Parts: sequence; structure tokens; C-alpha cells
Amino acid sequence: MKSKVYIETYGCQMNVADSEVVASILNDAGYSATEEIAEADLILINTCSIRDNAEQRIWGRLKSLGHLRRKNKQLKIGVIGCMAERLKEDLLEREKLVDIVVGPDAYRQLPQLVAEAGSGHKAVNVLLSREETYGDISPVRLDKNGVSSFVSIMRGCNNMCAYCVVPYVRGAERSRDPHSVIREVTELFEAGYREVTLLGQNVDSYNWKGDNTALGFPELLERVASINPLLRVRFSTSHPKDMSDELLNAMARHENICRHIHLPAQSGSTRILKLMNREYSREWYMERVESIRRILPGTAISTDMITGFCTETDEDHRASLSLMEWAGFDFAYMFMYSERPGTRAARKLKDDVPEKVKAERLSEMISLQNRLSAKSKKADIGRVFEVLAEGRSKRSSDFLSGRTSQNKVVVFPAGDFKKGDYVSVLIERATSATLLGTVK
Ligand code: 5AD
Ligand code: SF4
Repeated sequence: MKSKVYIETYGCQMNVADSEVVASILNDAGYSATEEIAEADLILINTCSIRDNAEQRIWGRLKSLGHLRRKNKQLKIGVIGCMAERLKEDLLEREKLVDIVVGPDAYRQLPQLVAEAGSGHKAVNVLLSREETYGDISPVRLDKNGVSSFVSIMRGCNNMCAYCVVPYVRGAERSRDPHSVIREVTELFEAGYREVTLLGQNVDSYNWKGDNTALGFPELLERVASINPLLRVRFSTSHPKDMSDELLNAMARHENICRHIHLPAQSGSTRILKLMNREYSREWYMERVESIRRILPGTAISTDMITGFCTETDEDHRASLSLMEWAGFDFAYMFMYSERPGTRAARKLKDDVPEKVKAERLSEMISLQNRLSAKSKKADIGRVFEVLAEGRSKRSSDFLSGRTSQNKVVVFPAGDFKKGDYVSVLIERATSATLLGTVK
């Protein structure tokens, strides 16, 4: 009988994609993926280090797995991903909750390390690589809907945002061979998938060198979009310093490239952006937004924002709010600054904004964004959108749930439609999280 691996994923979409690569590597080594943790011989926790609370949550989870270990002496527990990379051997030592530690570039070693963990060896590999992209590996899809999937196009990050741990835990940036990207997406389409999201820490700096040519992101995106007009293509994340008009023009040429850009601003204060080492100003960011509005009218824009970064004043904070108001973001992820050991900010700047102030600023920002999101949804009422159905609505099986090209969730009566169908929906109402409509 095949051994069983249970993989639990925390953090970003990149981790979701990585878990599928890990499932594939282990599958080749005789493990099948299970959704039942109780029947697993191997539990892998794919972890995130982006903020301290992400790591605390994972420690809590590891402790809660203790009872399974006591029940099954053969069970092995591994920590993989960003937190494995950051904490290395310490993860094995601290509280003895873990048998295996593997960083994001060492997943090919997993089968060997799992075997070694049984023989009293220290099963750790956290070497980062300059080349590894797992390009040749066909991920085992762990999602349940069969309509939408993530495809990683690059790994690592060469930006040095002062607050960010990613370059340290995911290593230097490298781009994946475009042929393997096209092959993977084509296979997904043939298997019935209708949407892919191309993933990288900074997709705009995708740059593959080979075949005596260089290939940038706009061209890769167009190639992927040309696979089939029935395939929706999304991408994440764009960096404001690199997001070019060339990219926007490429999007304009393909209706199936979704009209949504995630463009993290982080702050609206040029002084703070400079300290963050973001390499753009407030004005530059605004100019990029204007460019999106000009070249791709009707495109949704979302952002990430941090409150309480080192030295942030009330005035800086108000600059963030006014930028959000000006841009009218359709959606935003907002966070309190969390100092990460080893980053440039941790080494050079003082984490001097009191937690209470960070929290107050965050809650003010969230209220503002709630208002902006509601406004954005309200503007859709009375309009017709093409919705890609992803599955039954959570509330009622008589309804389907899907998304517009702008990435807004729409719920509508299912009728004879099924997931994977494109449906024209007239938007009639908006709740705080979703649009409600009828089939046109
Ligand atoms: N503290 C708070 N938020 C952070 N992010 C990245 N690093 C930190 C940190 N140290 C946020 C940024 C990034 C998103 C993925 O997480 O907004 O865009
Ligand atoms: Fe993703 Fe960054 Fe978290 Fe790693 S640390 S899982 S790259 S969000």
C-alpha cells in the first residue's frame, strides 16, 4: 500500500503552487496525497514567515499535532517552505515537534530526507539555489474546483524591500523556462481548467534567457493568453517600479487576460517609500495607476498596505489614506508592520511606532477600504459581466459562484450551468463580499 502524505499550506499563492510540486515529487517516490490527516504517514506543513503572527500560528498548529504523534509512533512531521528556511535546525530542536525541515529550493531532496528521518539522522536541507525552478515537474493538483489553478513562472526575489523577509527565505530571482510554462498551462486547459494565475514575487521582472533570445513578461503573458481564448489568464504580483505600459498594451490585445492588476503600494508617503526601499514615489505610483486607467479602462486595481512602518508619522499615515481614496482601490490587503529578523529595516531602522498606534491606523485604513470596496461594487449594479463559474455557492446549492474578469465574486442562480462555464450575469445587488445577479 502507498504511504500517505497530508500537506497543509499557509501563506501566499506561491506556497499553494509549491505544495503541488511537493505532492508531485512525493508521488513519484510512492506517496499519495490524502485529505485525511488521521490516515497520514507523513504530515508536511508548508509555512510562511512574512509576519510574526504567521509564524506564531504555525507554532500553535505544530503543538496541536502532538496528539497524532503520540498515537502513531511511525508518523513523521515536516516543516517546509519559508519558515523552514528562516529557522533551519532550530525548528528540530525547539520543543521537538518536527522531524524534517526543508527549504523552498530543496524539495527534490524530500523523499531522501523523509527516509533519513527514520534512521536518527538530522533531516534538514535548507540550501537555496540559483537555478532551481522545478520547471520539469508536473504539479499534482490539490485544489478542489478543477477550474482555476496557479502556475509559478519564477522563484525568489531580487528586490530588497527593507521590511521583507522573502529574499532571505526564497533566495535570488530566477525565471522558469517559458516552454515548460506553456506546457503546464496547455495541460491544465486540456484537463478542463479555464483560468490560470501566473505567479512570481515580481512578475514584471520575469526575464528568461535562452534559445539565443531573452523573453520578458509581456511576451510570456501573450503566449499564455494565445493558448486558447477560453482560458482566462491572471498574474500576481506586479511591482509599481517595473509595471510597464508595454505590459498594459499586451493586456489590451487579449480579452482573456483578466482586467485586474494587483499593484501593492505599501505606503502613500514618498518619505516612507524611500525608507522601505521601494524605488518609487507617491507620484510615480499615481502615474502608473493613471496609465492603467488610460490603456485599460474598467480594470480593477488592488493593493497591499502596511501601517506603522519605522518612523511613520500621522502625516505619513494620512498620505497612505489619501492615496487609497484617490486610487479608489477595489480591494486591499492591509497589515501592521511586523519587524522580521535579519531584514534591512531590522538592522538599520527602529521599530518605533507603538503597536497601539499601528493597530489604530490599521483599523482606520480598513474602514476606509470597506467604503471604497462597497463603492466599487455598487458601481457594478446594473451592468452585465461575463462570469466564470467556479462551483456551487457556499450558501445554497441552487446558486453558482464565480468571478468577473475584474476578480469580483458573483453569485447567481445555477440553472443548467456548471462550473467551468462562462455566464453573462446582470448585477442586481451587492453585499459586503459579493455581487448578486441574474443570468442575462
Ligand atoms: N510586516 C507587515 N507586512 C508585510 N508585508 C511584507 N512584509 C511585511 C512585514 N514585515 C506585506 C506587504 C506585502 C504583503 C505580501 O505582505 O504588504 O506586499
Ligand atoms: Fe509567501 Fe512570503 Fe509567506 Fe513565503 S514568506 S509563504 S513567499 S508570503
